Amino acid sequence: MRDIRACIFDLDGVIVDTASHHFVAWRRLADELGVPFSSEDNEALKGVSRVDSLEYILNKGGLVLDPATKVRLMDRKNAHYLELAGKTSPADALPGVVELIDSLKEQGLKVALGSSSKNAEMILTRLNLIDRFDALVDGNHITLSKPDPEVFISGAKALDIAPEHCLVFEDAQSGIDAANAGGFPVIGIGSAEALTKAAAVIPGFGDYTWDSICALL
Ligand code: BG6
Ligand code: MG
Repeated sequence: MRDIRACIFDLDGVIVDTASHHFVAWRRLADELGVPFSSEDNEALKGVSRVDSLEYILNKGGLVLDPATKVRLMDRKNAHYLELAGKTSPADALPGVVELIDSLKEQGLKVALGSSSKNAEMILTRLNLIDRFDALVDGNHITLSKPDPEVFISGAKALDIAPEHCLVFEDAQSGIDAANAGGFPVIGIGSAEALTKAAAVIPGFGDYTWDSICALL
């Protein structure tokens, strides 16, 4: 049995279903640019920063734009996203996640956020969950996007716990790759067909207690 002392949660698609809002917002921007955007493209962009996601879409469309236009497009995508995610409320937390976080805290484990999103603090505040986190690392604090492990390494450092003792929860392949690159055990949230190289993949937290998650490691 692994000695897990902390859990690092991704946000979008793990704590709340804002991953679908990112998808709709990117597709809207891609439509505006005349670039096709499929659900496979969305899968590839999960966990990827705003700037790297824009570069992916521009590259797909063969578009070369100046830096000021890129900033304008990122702002436009974020406005589309906020139209959808700005109404997030505590009822939007995914099934079982609040119960899991509470049971981790009761058992003395630390809890951190490891998200690529610059909107993470706003979303956690709207979910009324921000006070439950011992450390928050998000898109405002990192220079390298997942699959680079920076976001999780910073989270482990903030908790002062070695990566091997921090379990990561991720819905994105880029996040699973980031966790593996940093030496973190990782559980995928989603479908085992879409997510590879995690210690285990579960569809969500709804049917799982902390003990049943530990049994998967
Ligand atoms: C990640 C999402 O959590 O954050 C990506 O999976 C998103 O889809 C990225 O692009 C950056 O988010 P934001 O809120 O900073 O644009
Ligand atoms: Mg995610």
